[in-house]
Amino acid sequence: MTPQNSPELRTFGRTKGRPLSPRQQGLVDDLLPRIAVPDSGPVELPQRFSQHILEIGFGGGEHLVAQARRHPGTGFIGIEPYVNGVAKALTGIEENSLDNVRLHLGDARDILPRLPDAGLDRIYLLFPDPWPKLRHSKRRFVQDRTAAEFVRLLKPGGLLRVATDVMAYADHALEVLRRRSELQWLATHADDWRKPPADHITTRYETKRLGDCEPVWFDFQRR
Ligand SMILES: C[S@@+](CC[C@H](N)C(=O)[O-])C[C@H]1O[C@@H](n2cnc3c(N)ncnc32)[C@H](O)[C@@H]1O
Repeated sequence: MTPQNSPELRTFGRTKGRPLSPRQQGLVDDLLPRIAVPDSGPVELPQRFSQHILEIGFGGGEHLVAQARRHPGTGFIGIEPYVNGVAKALTGIEENSLDNVRLHLGDARDILPRLPDAGLDRIYLLFPDPWPKLRHSKRRFVQDRTAAEFVRLLKPGGLLRVATDVMAYADHALEVLRRRSELQWLATHADDWRKPPADHITTRYETKRLGDCEPVWFDFQRR
């Protein structure tokens, strides 16, 4: 299974790193097909879960796996085109015997249109690839089109969380998302976006602080 080639501009960097260990390769070959979202057609949200959460670009899956452990009654879908990250997430899923996570190895923009209207309680987009140069801004995941999909996918009252430590991305995301009248930015004080939300789980990537500003956290609620 390889990430599909989206006809759109690519929003991610590499899709492969170091060769996978035999164990990781085994998980990609055996476990991934069992928990992958279907290759085509509508992606259904199983009724046995009371809530549904989507994480876009989960990296090594630390946040996804920890949230799925915390919320066993919630169904999670994680999407990531970097196979080494997917292999790490699969390791966490197996080690914790999680039965509430489905994955897609590829571009989230191929899956969003296949998800049902108003089915998701939460969408996480945490530290997306920043594409800080203006000429690359069309490669940022947050665009008018993806914002429209977030609106369509979230249940009324559902939450979209975007985090970044890149100032240009923070400005860009706020500009795009605040254009959507269906989304309400929940911040009322600076600490609401300057401090990590109480339920956040920090990842290794985040602690590297590769950006040019302190991390910011934007929680938007679907009206
Ligand atoms: C900077 S990393 C952050 C990873 C993780 N969210 C974290 O906070 O540790 C951004 C991730 O988004 C993924 N990504 C970029 N574009 C994507 C897309 N269109 N669909 C799904 N994932 C994407 C990248 O492959 C990368 O792993």
